[in-house]
Amino acid sequence: MISKVHKTAAIVAFLCLVSFWTLSLITEINADKAFFGFVRTYIFYTMFVMIAAIIITAVTGFKIAKKMRGPIIENKKKRMPFIGLNGAIVLLPLAIILFMYSNETILKGQEGMVDTLRLIELIFGAINIILISLNIKDGLKLKRK
Ligand code: HEM
Repeated sequence: MISKVHKTAAIVAFLCLVSFWTLSLITEINADKAFFGFVRTYIFYTMFVMIAAIIITAVTGFKIAKKMRGPIIENKKKRMPFIGLNGAIVLLPLAIILFMYSNETILKGQEGMVDTLRLIELIFGAINIILISLNIKDGLKLKRK
């Protein structure tokens, strides 16, 4: 049961992040203002689903792994703080700032700065996608054992 919850939460978190990243990238190509507003609103609200999913993934992961040892488990554990800190310190604040920008609440007329923030979001989002993918890969290895 707990393993099923771990797997489901992990997949939900991964799909949220991939959808955020892909939509952000599309807004770089498609400059439509309404589409940008839609994407920023989607990311802002779905971010809370992703945070909940990551927390559930981490809590259940550590519970399942309590008595387990070995390099695969250690690598999964080591990645977790980076995933969490990247989300909390970089991606969440950027999602809030860019949502407010799309509502024309802040950073009006500062497109240069906004472009930089969007680029930072794509880079750090890609880092988290890679880290989560590695945890999924290692999770599948553990399951096979
Ligand atoms: C974002 C972080 C994580 C993701 C995306 C993730 C993903 C996964 C996935 C997809 C599986 C395969 C489940 C299955 O096929 O039933 C798995 C298994 C597993 N994960 Fe994670 N995981 C994460 C974090 C952690 C952490 C922090 C730990 C604790 C060290 C952990 C421990 C385990 C264990 C022990 C298994 C094997 C479960 C079993 O044999 O039933 N995971 N993980």
